[in-house]
Amino acid sequence: MEDIKKRILDKIKPSDEEREYLTKVADELMYKIDSITFKVGLMGVKTQLVGSAARGTWISGTHDLDIFIMFPDDTSREDLESYGLSVGRQIAKEAQEWDEHYAEHPYVKMKYGGFDVDLVPCYSVSSASCILSAVDRTPFHNEFIKANLSGREDDVLLLKQFMKGTGVYGSELKTEGFSGYLTELLVISYGSFEKVLEAASEWRPGVLLDLMEHGAQKFEDPLVVIDPTDPRRNVAAALSLDKFCTFIDVSRSFLEDSDESMFFASQEPPMSDAELLDRMDLRGTSMVAIVFKTPDVVDDIFYPQFAKMEHSIVPLLEKNEFTVLKAGKWSGGNSVVFLELMSRTLPDVKRHRGPPVWVRSHAEAFRSKYVDNPDAYSLTIQEGFYVAEIPRKYTDAVNLLESEVAGCSLGKHISKSVKEGFTVLGGEQILDLKDEGVRSFLNGWL
Ligand code: UTP
Ligand code: MN
Repeated sequence: MEDIKKRILDKIKPSDEEREYLTKVADELMYKIDSITFKVGLMGVKTQLVGSAARGTWISGTHDLDIFIMFPDDTSREDLESYGLSVGRQIAKEAQEWDEHYAEHPYVKMKYGGFDVDLVPCYSVSSASCILSAVDRTPFHNEFIKANLSGREDDVLLLKQFMKGTGVYGSELKTEGFSGYLTELLVISYGSFEKVLEAASEWRPGVLLDLMEHGAQKFEDPLVVIDPTDPRRNVAAALSLDKFCTFIDVSRSFLEDSDESMFFASQEPPMSDAELLDRMDLRGTSMVAIVFKTPDVVDDIFYPQFAKMEHSIVPLLEKNEFTVLKAGKWSGGNSVVFLELMSRTLPDVKRHRGPPVWVRSHAEAFRSKYVDNPDAYSLTIQEGFYVAEIPRKYTDAVNLLESEVAGCSLGKHISKSVKEGFTVLGGEQILDLKDEGVRSFLNGWL
C-alpha cells in the first residue's frame, strides 16, 4: 500500500517548479485585477485565489485556477454583474481564448498562461450563513480547509485521483459524484486516504458527517456532509445513490487487493462490427437504440434532460409490456439511448383484465364489450375476474418508440431536437453507429 501510494503521488503531485509557475500566474492575474478595480475607483474590492489551487490539493497537470473577485455586500446585483464582467473582459484581452458563462452570476472563463481560469464575482460577506449568492461560500471553504487540512494534502490528492480513476469524481450533473471540497472534508473527518476507504466500505445510505456538530438537519441524500461553514447545506447533495454505491464497491475492492490501475480510468477498446454482433448474439436479448442530434447546450443543462428522457422511455416500454433489462446513454455529436430488452417483439395477444364477475353491472358491461367482439380472441374467467384477450397495439418495440418517443416528457432542448428528427435502430441496425466513442461505450456497457 505504501509503495503504491508513493508511486501514485510521484505521478500526481505537482513539482516545486509547477507550483511556482501556478503561483506566478495566479499572482499576475490578481495583480492585474487589482489594478483595474483601483483604476476605475471600485472601493473595497478584493481578489482571492480559491479552490484546490489555493489549498495545495490540485493534481499535477490539471490546470484550473478559480479566482474570485469579492465585492462589498452592499453592492447591487447589477453593479456586481456589470463590474465583474467588465473586469473579466479586460483581463481576457490578454487571454489565449475566452468566453462568458452563466451560473448564478455571469462570469468570464479563459485560457491564460496555459491555465483554465474562472474569474467569478461574488459578495464578501461576514459569514457563510449570510451569503447573498451560492458562490459566496467558496472563500469560507478555503479558510476552513486551510485551517484544518494542513499536512494531509497528499491524502486528498490520492483520494481525488482514486475517485477520478473509478469514475466518481466531479459534482457536475453529468457525473453526480464527489466534489473537490467533499474529498477534502472526507479526509478531515476520517483522517487519511485509507481511513476514508475503510469507512466507505461500511457506508450505507444515510451516513451523516457533521464536523462542527451543527446539529441534525433533515436531508434525504445518501451521504450527508454538513458544510462546516454553513449548516444549511449538504456538501454531498449532488452525489447520486449509484455513485455513492460505486465508491463503496471500489473502496472494498481496493482494500482487499490494492491495484494501482484503479487510479487511472481506462477506456474499453471500440468494438468491431463482428465483435458487436457476437456480443449481441451471445446475450440473446434485443437491442434497441434511439438516436438524435445532441442539442447545443452546456452539460449541466443537457445531462439532467438526458436522464429525464431515460426515465420517460423505460416506463413507456414497460407500460406496453416490453421488459427492459437495462438502459444506457451515450452522447457525442449524436446522443443515443440504448435499451436492452428481453424481447423486441411481443405476441399479438394481450391480456386485458376486467372486473370480478360478481360486481354485476361492471362485469356485464365488460362481458358484452368483448364476448362477441370479432377483434377479441376470447373472454375467459380467471380467479374470479373476466379476462379478455385482445390484440396488442404495439407488437414491436421499435414501432412503439417511433410513434411515441416524441410525445414523452424529455426536457426542453432534447424534446426540440427529437421533434426535428430521430431514428430508432433495432438489432443489427445498431451497427450503423460507427463512432469509436459509442463502440467503446458499448464494449463496457453490454
Ligand atoms: P472546483 O470545482 O474547481 O473544485 O471549485 P476544486 O476544489 O478546485 O477541485 P479541483 O481540484 O479543481 O477538481 C472551486 C471551489 O468552489 C466551491 C468549492 O469551495 C471549491 O473548492 N464549489 C465548487 C462549491 O462550493 N460547490 C460546487 O459545486 C463547486
Ligand atoms: Mn478547481
